[in-house]
Amino acid sequence: MKFFLDSANLDQIQEANDLGIIDGVTTNPSLMAKEGIKGKEGFRNHYLKICNIVSGDVSAEVISTDFTGMVRDAEELAGLHSQIVVKIPCIKDGIKAIKYLSQKGVRINCTLIFSPGQALLAAKAGTTYTSPFVGRLDDISTDVIALVKQIVNIYKTYNFNTQVIASSIRHTMHIIQSIEAGAHVATCPLNSILGLLKHPLTDLGLEKFLADYKKLNG
Ligand code: E4P
Repeated sequence: MKFFLDSANLDQIQEANDLGIIDGVTTNPSLMAKEGIKGKEGFRNHYLKICNIVSGDVSAEVISTDFTGMVRDAEELAGLHSQIVVKIPCIKDGIKAIKYLSQKGVRINCTLIFSPGQALLAAKAGTTYTSPFVGRLDDISTDVIALVKQIVNIYKTYNFNTQVIASSIRHTMHIIQSIEAGAHVATCPLNSILGLLKHPLTDLGLEKFLADYKKLNG
């Protein structure tokens, strides 16, 4: 399985990369806005900075919502760096754009997936990744882990190469449950990844080991 960092914050991306367990980064326009990134040139430079920190896939999202605009945005983004994967929303023109671009070798992450039907169409169109939004569905009391399982099973049954990215992760249980459900990737905020490390018995155990060592060795 792979871990992507769901952030456009360069310090966090560096920190996660230094941990050595990060396989890529996902961004979206909201995450870019959070970092105060503006304008086409600002976005391009920021994506390049991210690509220089991590060695894996970096998802960058189109802004247009019509076929021609999405294809134009996608070609510009994909041309920026070989690590860029273009994020395209799961709407009618988006599916058309995914079909067109994937045939030309552009790698796509189909975003804003909330149902198995959307995931099926995205895979059929040739997307590299699909991103079901775990947290946003959980927010409205939907059994999202069942959805991740459903998508993974459909892809397995029909031998789609598309990888499922559990997205919109809010906490550690979302990560564990999504991975148990067969998601190929979890894209997470840094806090959720670091949360996987935490256990009070680890802290207590370490404290006791060091105290026992000090008793004899000073
Ligand atoms: C990642 O690809 C998604 O854009 C992101 O996980 C959405 O997260 P949010 O629901 O916390 O905004």
